[in-house]
Amino acid sequence: MTVTLASASHRTGLRSGAGRGVLGRSVRLVLAGHRPGERPKGAPLPALAVLGRSNVGKSSLLNALLGVKVARVSQTPGRTQALYWYRVDDSFDVVDCPGYGWAKAAKEKRATFEEMIEKLLIGSEDAPAASCALLLADGRLEPQESDRSMALFLGNAGVPTVVAATKWDAVKPSERVRRLRSLSSEFADSERPLLPVSSETGENLPGLARLLRERLRTPSSP
Ligand code: GTP
Ligand code: MG
Repeated sequence: MTVTLASASHRTGLRSGAGRGVLGRSVRLVLAGHRPGERPKGAPLPALAVLGRSNVGKSSLLNALLGVKVARVSQTPGRTQALYWYRVDDSFDVVDCPGYGWAKAAKEKRATFEEMIEKLLIGSEDAPAASCALLLADGRLEPQESDRSMALFLGNAGVPTVVAATKWDAVKPSERVRRLRSLSSEFADSERPLLPVSSETGENLPGLARLLRERLRTPSSP
């Protein structure tokens, strides 16, 4: 069932909606995966993995791209604690992942999250690898070690990736050129584009959605 956001209650855990997103229109949560390798039931669809350090803005960006507040957002790092599979327009899945690089997370939990993300990106005998990844780096900060490791992992695993520099609204205009240069030289190349984005203002979200759809090989929303 697809419901409008007005009737969707976050408190009751009804996690679906119909919005005016640049990446898709109808969204429903099909799985909150807590175990490595867990997948939604039925035939697999192309999957987009949303990755980045805790608090970088993954869930916010997912909501902004889809035009509905389906994913939970928090000022406190460590909000997303499972792999949340959102089915979009019944044609592909967007997977909101737990953040990495959060020192306060219990070691055991961190290891499980890592394994879940690894299995999502690489796939297994009965589950295909993610079709592409959206890697988020905080646009206000210099490149971080954990982001470098993830970028390297994605490159080695051959997962088509788009990088988004988040919270661009919070970067001073006088710093933007320098910041973009340093993030691009670290993370971008001819096959891996980088776009500065803001979930608050919507800056560059249509362009980001286009790049993601190309990699998911799905046509644009009607
Ligand atoms: P975890 O699930 O804990 O890994 O975090 P996350 O990466 O999903 O981050 P989340 O979307 O929950 O956002 C973290 C904080 O950043 C929240 O306080 C958001 O309001 C804020 N935030 C997210 N995107 C933006 C943005 O584009 N601009 C600004 N200024 N703040 C943002
Ligand atoms: Mg989150």
